[in-house]
Amino acid sequence: IPVDPFDLVIFGGTGDLARRKILPGLFRRFRAGQMDAESRVIGAARSDLDVDGYRAMVREAIAEFDPASARDSEALEAFLGRLGYVVVDAMGETGWDDLEREVNSDRIRAFYFSVGPRLFGELAERLHKHGMADHDSRIVVEKPFGRDLESAKALNATLAQHFHEHQIYRIDHYLGKETVQNLMAVRFGNTLFEPLWNSQYVDHIQITVAESVGVGGRGEYYDRAGAVRDMMQNHLMQLLCLIAMEPPAKFEPDPVRDEKLKVIRALDPVEPGDVVRGQYEASSDAPGYNEQVENQGSTTESFVALKAHVSNWRWAGTPFYLRTGKRLKARASEIAVVFKDAPHSIFGAEAGRHANILTIRLQPNEGIELGVTIKEPGPGGMRLIDVPLDMTFAEALGPDDADFPDAYERLIMDVIRGNQTLFMRDDEVEEAWAWTDPMIAEWEARGEPPLPYASGSSGPDEALALIHRDGRHWREIK
Ligand code: BG6
Repeated sequence: IPVDPFDLVIFGGTGDLARRKILPGLFRRFRAGQMDAESRVIGAARSDLDVDGYRAMVREAIAEFDPASARDSEALEAFLGRLGYVVVDAMGETGWDDLEREVNSDRIRAFYFSVGPRLFGELAERLHKHGMADHDSRIVVEKPFGRDLESAKALNATLAQHFHEHQIYRIDHYLGKETVQNLMAVRFGNTLFEPLWNSQYVDHIQITVAESVGVGGRGEYYDRAGAVRDMMQNHLMQLLCLIAMEPPAKFEPDPVRDEKLKVIRALDPVEPGDVVRGQYEASSDAPGYNEQVENQGSTTESFVALKAHVSNWRWAGTPFYLRTGKRLKARASEIAVVFKDAPHSIFGAEAGRHANILTIRLQPNEGIELGVTIKEPGPGGMRLIDVPLDMTFAEALGPDDADFPDAYERLIMDVIRGNQTLFMRDDEVEEAWAWTDPMIAEWEARGEPPLPYASGSSGPDEALALIHRDGRHWREIK
């Protein structure tokens, strides 16, 4: 379904995120007929380009990051024709009058701040000054949304000077992932799971977001952030919220965000002994973390595992184990809901028993799998085995229907539609920092360096011990 005509200005329009995700994503929406022929995308950045130069850059970016779509040259040329470019200085006056002329006031106007947060205030102020911040315009802001509660509050306050909360779209691209939304469909679209979705039936929940890549060229940003600020405070926290929240009355922005906020508020402070931080070492074919960042003695973590408790009626007594890290064994992200054993085995100890596990695979091979106990086939008597009821979306839906839009393109279309359901509200972001701040302060005060772990492993051994000591074990990263 096409969205209404829009003008989308991308500040940082020549940057990495724009080239990698935003522009190829918009092109895919254009090809899919969702972006109407009137709509325009205007790059705004400091690079001294004219519109043809910008189009050439975007053509190259699409060819590099989505070569399959780029082969549709007719569509590509038509899309490039919808692009504009303005040289703009976020900190000065250059280019703002030109931008004002480019942006058509009859259409929906959206401004994507694909720049560092220190420029958010400047951009918001200048949009206001040049009359582009009317009541219907929207701004999209990228993470990192601050680096602690104080800076996040300051950012929220700055943006609020010129925009209402309903105009501010704080992106967490994990919320745009197909399977993440499917998590809500599975929970709230079936009668099967929700009655069991509580501490009476669920033993524990594991959330793993494992990456095989290291920090690459992002060392400068990453070394100031670390795994907790880069991933835990936002992406893993959002996954935790969707798993743990009460059913919202409606799938609408505030009902959903109100429920997520209640989860964050119900989180206990993390006990110092329940956090393990790690940093990857060099391997024979790849440099270690410390060789990839400027500060060779850096104590920033590239891995974190922790145990969290949601202290409310539904979840009291069910721990949530969360871990994320770089340079791990594989790129594999999943949520596993591990149910309790059946209360009594009528088959006796020798038959064995298996807990049911519902696994939501975010990537790769998006899908949902439910482990079910059955009898081992054959004459060997009653022996129980665990078999997966597996719904890999690409198999169950066919390759065409499983060709999901990337998280970014879906979220940008939501911005144009004015749907904030999958975006973070100011109070959510602040509460998430309020939860991570004391944890970070605690280890900074102790001054303990992160534990080294081998590249291609599952993280430090202590992370295994974190769950083993509770008589449980992590699912394998594969
Ligand atoms: C980003 C982080 O938000 O998410 C990166 O800043 C991380 O460090 C990335 O690599 C992971 O996203 P995805 O979609 O590849 O899982």
